[in-house]
Amino acid sequence: MTNENVLEALKNVTYPGFTKDIVTFGFVKNVVIEGEKVAIVIDITSSAPEVKAQLTDEATAELKKLGFATVEVHIDAPQAPQQMSNSVSGKNIAPHVKNFVMVSSGKGGVGKSTTSVNLAVAMAMQGKKVGLLDADIYGPNIPRMMGVADQKPEIQGNKVMPLKAYGVEIMSMGSLMEPGQSLIWRGSMIMKAIEQFLRDILWSELDVLVIDMPPGTGDAQLTLAQSVPVTAGITVTTPQEVSLDDSRRSLDMFQKLHIPTAGIIENMSGFICPECEAESDIFGMGTTIPVAKEYDTELIARIPIEPAIRVGGDTGKPITYFQPDSQTAKRYQEAASSLLQFIDKVQAEGGADNQAIQPTTPPGVSACSTGV
Ligand SMILES: Nc1ncnc2c1ncn2[C@@H]1O[C@H](COP(=O)(O)OP(=O)(O)O)[C@@H](O)[C@H]1O
Ligand SMILES: [Mg+2]
Repeated sequence: MTNENVLEALKNVTYPGFTKDIVTFGFVKNVVIEGEKVAIVIDITSSAPEVKAQLTDEATAELKKLGFATVEVHIDAPQAPQQMSNSVSGKNIAPHVKNFVMVSSGKGGVGKSTTSVNLAVAMAMQGKKVGLLDADIYGPNIPRMMGVADQKPEIQGNKVMPLKAYGVEIMSMGSLMEPGQSLIWRGSMIMKAIEQFLRDILWSELDVLVIDMPPGTGDAQLTLAQSVPVTAGITVTTPQEVSLDDSRRSLDMFQKLHIPTAGIIENMSGFICPECEAESDIFGMGTTIPVAKEYDTELIARIPIEPAIRVGGDTGKPITYFQPDSQTAKRYQEAASSLLQFIDKVQAEGGADNQAIQPTTPPGVSACSTGV
């Protein structure tokens, strides 16, 4: 029996809640074989006892199948963190950033990047030092949405200066690649890219780094939770039932990774008539409230379908900055305030105990001359 045989067998052990195995994730740190006995060290980020138990059981079973008489599995996991409920590995590879906010969604196209941009801009307008990291390496849209698509970041030694717009520091794979170029990412490359974004970008001392994640619940999410303590997770969804199924997966992932959930942003929720300001229901409104309850969290904002939001994204002029008096900008500002309060609460209480933020009550649909 060689170390390779052992690692091969451990590839059958997947990390709970993910499709990847612990060897591919790089969690198996040490293998020692002495005759009939094997000892391994697994270094994980979660302090959840059920994760440890499951990994121990499965790894032991796999190694017994190889014929070892004695199997010792040592799990190196952080102690239940005191400061932050998910402080994961206790590791922070970007220590000058005080808070990390993960913006996730079960699927693409629901407005994750739009939400990340407008929340980041709103917090900067409220006087916070904010960064915006585009971790969606498959579809990096942040440079365009922030109006910096034609700028190239300055390199200093082996570090990269973030770009800056509307008071927000920005970094994206899109800014490091040639326009139109695409890369085929393997899991390990994604993990490396995310780590480098945190380690090798010269972020200032930030109050908040907003991270626009790739859609879904995969390697990027786990890598992030492994590398830094994520203070708050936000799930973006649209109100249709099919989207809600996807957003459940995203909320479930926050729970598995011990990320305190700030709440759900219901995007493309209703339409506000530009003439009479009445709000009408297009895809449904408020449908996320029961899902939020299911996961013991809150609906933190409902953002209507608004042509100006899309135009703002396409032209790199976020609505929150350019039309600060619009209904939509006000909702982003309120969502940003709720998020900042949530972050303060997590920091103060070390609580996974999510804050109750009342959703805006969907106003009734009133008769409107435009007939929408
Ligand atoms: N509330 C909204 N009203 C109108 N258009 C929106 C709204 N939210 C997002 N969009 C548009 O929908 C498209 C997808 O949004 P995007 O933020 O890129 O989604 P994701 O990052 O989840 O893939 C973009 O063109 C964006 O401008
Ligand atoms: Mg996006």
